[in-house]
Amino acid sequence: MIKGEQIYEGKAKKVFATDDPGLLIVSYKDDATAFNGLKRGTIEGKGIINNKMSNALMRMLRKRGIPTHFVEELGERDTLVKKVEIVPLEVIVRNISAGSFSKRYGVDEGLVFSEPTIEFSYKNDALGDPLINDCHALALGLVSREELEEIKRLAFEINGVLKDFWTSCGVTLVDFKLEFGRLPDGSIVLADEISPDTCRLWDSETGKKLDKDRFRRDLGGVEDAYREIMARAEQGLGEVK
Ligand code: TMP
Repeated sequence: MIKGEQIYEGKAKKVFATDDPGLLIVSYKDDATAFNGLKRGTIEGKGIINNKMSNALMRMLRKRGIPTHFVEELGERDTLVKKVEIVPLEVIVRNISAGSFSKRYGVDEGLVFSEPTIEFSYKNDALGDPLINDCHALALGLVSREELEEIKRLAFEINGVLKDFWTSCGVTLVDFKLEFGRLPDGSIVLADEISPDTCRLWDSETGKKLDKDRFRRDLGGVEDAYREIMARAEQGLGEVK
């Protein structure tokens, strides 16, 4: 597979063309941002960890029948994926209150929900990714009703698989963000990444944060936390095999 010209650079990844028009290469960077790019930094080794972890989780989800964009890991930072048209929604699933949910509704972090909840943000940096409801997403033509239902169904199914996996690693999956894309045939697949950048992961015993909140909130030990969560995942994956 030939790594062609760079066609996009995001906050945490670069995207390259390949010699197959239906495939792209994503390359994970160590760059970290928060608060819509206002806070910037580097988390050494993050790109390597996120690439490896996201691919392992995508493989696990694929085995459970979840359609994904993942094709093949090409290198420590590079992965071959199917080219999709990204649905401009950030899909957030929560099992426990934290972050913007706690702030918006005035509740402490750590409230365990009786059932998982979901919300959408409109993926639009200029607007600061505002919260959006189903009807608004339909009114703006971001997604069809059928696609929205499929995205919700997949998101909750993914939550079930990931929650069980992280529990087996001694880690609590608090919440996470997903993105979905459309293949040329119109079908919806899981895209983007699943990593400590996009999930809240707390040690089940101590509650220690093992995710990007250490960077967002200046908690220190950021690189160590990324290494620790990767080691936990590898332990869990070893047991799954
Ligand atoms: P929030 O509580 O700040 O809305 O974040 C919910 C989840 O989404 C959390 O696991 C972190 C993740 N997330 C992203 O992946 N990208 C983002 O830009 C934001 C704001 C959150």
